[in-house]
Amino acid sequence: SSSKILIKGGTVVNAHHQEIADVFVEHGIIVDVKPNIKIGDDVTVLDATGKFVMPGGIDPHTHLAFDFMGTRTIDDFFSGQAAALAGGTTMHIDFAIPVGGSLIAGFEAYEERAEKSVMDYGFHMAVTKWDDTVSKEMEIMVNEKGINSFKFFMAYKGALMINDVLLLEGLKKCKSLGALAMVHAEHGDAVFEGQKRMIELGITGPEGHALSRPAVLEGEATARAIRLAAFVNTPLYVVHVMSIDAMEEIAKARKSGQKVIGEPIVAGLVLDDSGPWDPDFVTAAKYVMSPPIRAAGHGKALQAALSTGILQLVGTDHCVFNSTQKSLGIDDFRKIPNGVNGIEERMHLVWDTMVESGQISVSDYVRITSTESARIFNIYPRKGAILAGSDADIIILNPNSSFEISTSTHHSRTDTNVFEGRRGKGKVEVTIAGGRIVWINDELKVTPGSGKYVKMPPFSYLFAGIDKVDAMYFSSLKAPVKRAW
Ligand code: URP
Ligand code: ZN
Ligand code: ZN
Ligand code: ZN
Repeated sequence: SSSKILIKGGTVVNAHHQEIADVFVEHGIIVDVKPNIKIGDDVTVLDATGKFVMPGGIDPHTHLAFDFMGTRTIDDFFSGQAAALAGGTTMHIDFAIPVGGSLIAGFEAYEERAEKSVMDYGFHMAVTKWDDTVSKEMEIMVNEKGINSFKFFMAYKGALMINDVLLLEGLKKCKSLGALAMVHAEHGDAVFEGQKRMIELGITGPEGHALSRPAVLEGEATARAIRLAAFVNTPLYVVHVMSIDAMEEIAKARKSGQKVIGEPIVAGLVLDDSGPWDPDFVTAAKYVMSPPIRAAGHGKALQAALSTGILQLVGTDHCVFNSTQKSLGIDDFRKIPNGVNGIEERMHLVWDTMVESGQISVSDYVRITSTESARIFNIYPRKGAILAGSDADIIILNPNSSFEISTSTHHSRTDTNVFEGRRGKGKVEVTIAGGRIVWINDELKVTPGSGKYVKMPPFSYLFAGIDKVDAMYFSSLKAPVKRAW
C-alpha cells in the first residue's frame, strides 16, 4: 500500500541515543535504521544530511471538536490534526468528554468526530460525576475501548467540576484498573468566589480571569490531589502545570518517591500574563485559558523544571475558539470560552526555547515531546521511537532553518494565534505520519480517514512497584483483631 521511503544521512535521535544513520520505511513501519542502507528503485529518497531525524511529536493534551462553555472548538479532528502535522506532531491524545453523563456515549461521540482523522490519535476520558454506572463504564473504557487515563476536573464549578469525595472514588477506581488518574488542579469553589469578587469590583474584562484564579489556588489543588493519590497509593498526572506553586508540589512529591507526572503546556512555558491586559478585547480574550497564563517568572521556572526532570513532558492544551466565539464573553470574562492554541507550534517553540537556548539536549527534546508521552500512555516503542518495528511517524528538523508563527500561515481554523509573530531557529521540514509524507516544502498532503485510533493498554511503567492490593481499600487478607471489652 504505502510507498517506500529512505531517509539518508541524518542524525537519528531517540530519547537515549543518537547516531548518523539511514532510516528505511515500508508499509507504514520503520523497517531498518543503520548507516548506508542499500535499496532498489521505486523508493522515495529524502536527504537529511545535517538535519535531525526524530520521532514525530506526541501531544498528550488536546481538545478537538470539544463542546465547551456554550460553543464548540473551531478546530476539529481534521483541521487540528492538519495543523499538528504541519508542526511536526504525528499523534495526539484528546480528551473525550462524557455526553449526558455517559462515558460510553461520550466515547462514541468522539469516535465519530475522529473519523476524518489524518494522523493517529488516542483518548483520555473525563469523569465528571460518580455513581455505579460511571464506575462500570470506566471498566469498559479500559477493558474494551483502549483508554488508560481519566481526567478529573477540580475546577469549572457547575459544569465539569467534581468534589474530593468523587476524586477519591475515581482515584481508587483508576488504581484498580491500572489507569492513570489526571487532574485539572485548581480550587474550583475558591475560583468561583474569586470570579464573583471581580465582577463586584466592576472588573468584567479578560484581565479579571487571571486575577480571579491566582497561582495559590493551583498550588493548593495540586497539593491536595497529590496527597489523595498518595493516600490511595496510585500514580497521578497533573495536566497543564502553569505555576511555580504547582510545580514545587510536584517536585516535593517526586523527591519523596511518589509517582507524580507534571505536564506543562507550551503557552505556559513561553508566554506571560500581559496578554489579557491588552486594551483590544479580542486580543486580550485569546489568552484566556485555565489555569491562567502566569507572570513571566513562572514560565522560566517551568522551563528549568523540565530541564532538570521535575516535569516530564510538554503538551499544548490546544483548545481553540475564534474571535466571534471569544466575544461571547465581551461583557463578562466568565463567559469567554477558555483555551489557547499550540498543536502546530509546540515542536518549534520547545526546540527554540529549550534546545536552541542550550537548556536541554536533542535527546531530551525527543523525550519531552514524544517518548515520554508514549511511555506514560503505554504505547512505547510502537510510538515515540525511531527503531525497527516502530510506526513510521518521523520528522526531519533542520536546525539551521527558521520558523515564523503567523495567523496568515498557520493551519488552524482560528483567526488569532497566541504566539503571533514569534520566530526562531529550527524548522520541521518534513513530517511522515503512518509511513506517508504529509508535510514537505511547506505543503500539506493529508487524506481524511488515514489516521488510526491507537488503543492504550493499562498498567504503564508508572504502576511498577505499586501494590495492586491496597491495604486501605482492597485487602481481605486479614481478619480484624477480635478484642474483648
Ligand atoms: O482553558 C482550558 N484549559 N481549556 C480546555 C479545558 C481544560 O481545562 O483543559
Ligand atoms: Zn505497500
Ligand atoms: Zn483542564
Ligand atoms: Zn485541557
